[in-house]
Amino acid sequence: MNEFATSYHAPVLVEPVLSFLLNENARLIVDATLGGGGHTAALLAKGGVELRVIGIDADSEALAAAQARLQNASSRCEFIHGNFRSLTSLLGSLGVNEVDGILADLGVSSRQIDRPERGFSYMEDGPLDMRMNPNLSGTAADLLATLEADELKRIFRDYGEERLAGPMARAIARQRSQRPLQRTSDLRQIVEKIVKGPQRVKSLARIFQALRIAVNEELEVLREFLQSALSVLRPGGRLVVISYHSLEDRIVKQFIKMHEKGCTCPPEFPICVCGKQSQLQILTPKPVAPDAMEININPRGRSARLRAAQKR
Ligand SMILES: C[S@@+](CC[C@H](N)C(=O)[O-])C[C@H]1O[C@@H](n2cnc3c(N)ncnc32)[C@H](O)[C@@H]1O
Repeated sequence: MNEFATSYHAPVLVEPVLSFLLNENARLIVDATLGGGGHTAALLAKGGVELRVIGIDADSEALAAAQARLQNASSRCEFIHGNFRSLTSLLGSLGVNEVDGILADLGVSSRQIDRPERGFSYMEDGPLDMRMNPNLSGTAADLLATLEADELKRIFRDYGEERLAGPMARAIARQRSQRPLQRTSDLRQIVEKIVKGPQRVKSLARIFQALRIAVNEELEVLREFLQSALSVLRPGGRLVVISYHSLEDRIVKQFIKMHEKGCTCPPEFPICVCGKQSQLQILTPKPVAPDAMEININPRGRSARLRAAQKR
């Protein structure tokens, strides 16, 4: 494990995160996904005494754990409980409207996965919950009980890229007409009836991922976050996003590309009429991935892909 890992969570790609975010102008950085506070601890340790970090998390348990861990640096941190989709207004509540760097390390922490009562994992039996913020309504069990089979199929297909999305959705609809699905093991049994052999584990991972994305509206939230992040970065400020699956990474990649592009007028136009200006400079032409040594130490981080950009 790296020096900033704890039993709560091992932060991934710490070196590239630090090298993109800690330039000589960095005074105020937002860690939009504080989790166990690993990246924030690294930023505070390596960033010099003038660096301050604002840590955000939707999960109040994560916030409390990070706050306890970072108490020695409490004069340099602020903590906000909230969803990073509302980044602009969360920062506004502290009177902040411009920052030097923003980090989002998407998805769930090891702690969230390892606690069966959060319902994120198919490995252990627990309630079908999956909410990042357990104070809000709308659990995975609620979605499975209320959505039409066609909508469940769309979720499994679009968010899980699951080939057997239709049979899974129909099996859920049949099952719930007799007894509601309330436990992760209820969902697991349905998947295991449909998929046999070595593909089973992959299907379980895909179905659980899809449901988690739907429960937390993760893709819509990510789009809103990126837009807010761009608006609160000062010129020269840096955005770093770590994604864990291709749907997230595609959104980040397309957002950065779209805002890197300036004028979109056809080449035959003698002068620009669209007025569009490039707002971002791409710092990672290809996403940064953990190397073999990091994967060996922290296999859960193997799918991490980091993209960084600088505001013009
Ligand atoms: C991968 S973990 C971050 C780990 C952290 N970088 C560390 O070093 O410990 C992701 C965290 O983001 C939080 N999270 C996920 N979606 C969120 C959202 N929309 N708004 C705020 N926090 C969110 C989760 O609750 C979780 O604690």
